Amino acid sequence: MKTSADGSARRTIWATGDGAVEIIDQTRLPHEYATKRLASVEDVAEAIAVMRVRGAPLIGATAAYGMAIAADVDPSDAALALARQILFATRPTAVNLGWALARVADVLASLPLERRAEAAWTEAEAIAAEDIALNGAIGDHGLALIKAAQKARPGETVNVLTHCNAGWLATVGWGTATAPIYKAHAAGIPIHVWVDETRPRNQGASLTAWELAEAGVPHTLIADNAGGHLMQHGRVDLCIVGTDRTAANGDVCNKIGTYLKALAAHDNGVPFYVALPSPTLDLSLQSGRDVPIEERAGTEVTEITGRTADGRIESVCVTTPSTAAANPAFDVTPARLVTGLVTERGVIEPERLREVFGSRA
Ligand code: MRU
Repeated sequence: MKTSADGSARRTIWATGDGAVEIIDQTRLPHEYATKRLASVEDVAEAIAVMRVRGAPLIGATAAYGMAIAADVDPSDAALALARQILFATRPTAVNLGWALARVADVLASLPLERRAEAAWTEAEAIAAEDIALNGAIGDHGLALIKAAQKARPGETVNVLTHCNAGWLATVGWGTATAPIYKAHAAGIPIHVWVDETRPRNQGASLTAWELAEAGVPHTLIADNAGGHLMQHGRVDLCIVGTDRTAANGDVCNKIGTYLKALAAHDNGVPFYVALPSPTLDLSLQSGRDVPIEERAGTEVTEITGRTADGRIESVCVTTPSTAAANPAFDVTPARLVTGLVTERGVIEPERLREVFGSRA
């Protein structure tokens, strides 16, 4: 398994040095750790669309590498515009996708054709390296929150609830919501994570639980409906989740079901934090109402995939074949339910986003 340059975080994507990248194929986890080579724009687009790579920061970084692969083949304006269009059409919700594509395209636009390929690889590497650094900083700021929770109940284990996978698999390295958890664990703070299974695609059960097990962090998988009950009974000290797009007013779009957890946290006085690296911020949106919400195939709801006792990975239907299913993949948690945004610049109240990040462009 690849580690990042500073050796502190696992790495999900890396350049092979011959015009391609390698990724961890997340559709195989937790049953099998397999890597996959992506050598064309079509390979990259397919990997994002079918979620071999997923999670907002990793989608952005992968798309950036996709532009580099495209520039290697044909650096003309027309070819790059087409590559950008193909990559942008893969998934609509994570703002990191459009952000990363625009960043690479802007750099290339000012360069002569013969310098574009090298510059694209350099920019994609920079986006990847920055992602690891931003997430490391989020980890440090989030660690302070976990330390504070421990101080409030000395000697007790800190119980964190998380939803979906905002771990290192969802980023280039470290993860966003999990970075504070990994740092707390490394610092010797007794910590335990409630892992929402996160139907319909089960990123919690398949990916977050796998990551935490791998890192030796104590955790327990729960059905998505269990979080409210656990909060009512004082068994959750804080929630930390990720985000795919956060609007200027602090409304947070994240994996479907996040909103219900935030409501339950609010009702029970449990702090609800969102780990937000700045590339996931969309200051062009006044509120979360305008976030495009991805609708995925109904079969993700009517079927469930797992490994059989004899080792085969299979999907089975959990309803009658004639049942129609709706599958909105994300929801929006209003800023009023968010205790704080854990950013690379510190933990801030949602209403301070513009003040803190307004001039970042
Ligand atoms: O559909 P996915 O698996 O790409 O959704 C992932 C999430 O919702 C994550 O919480 C979000 O991207 C933040 S990842 C650091």
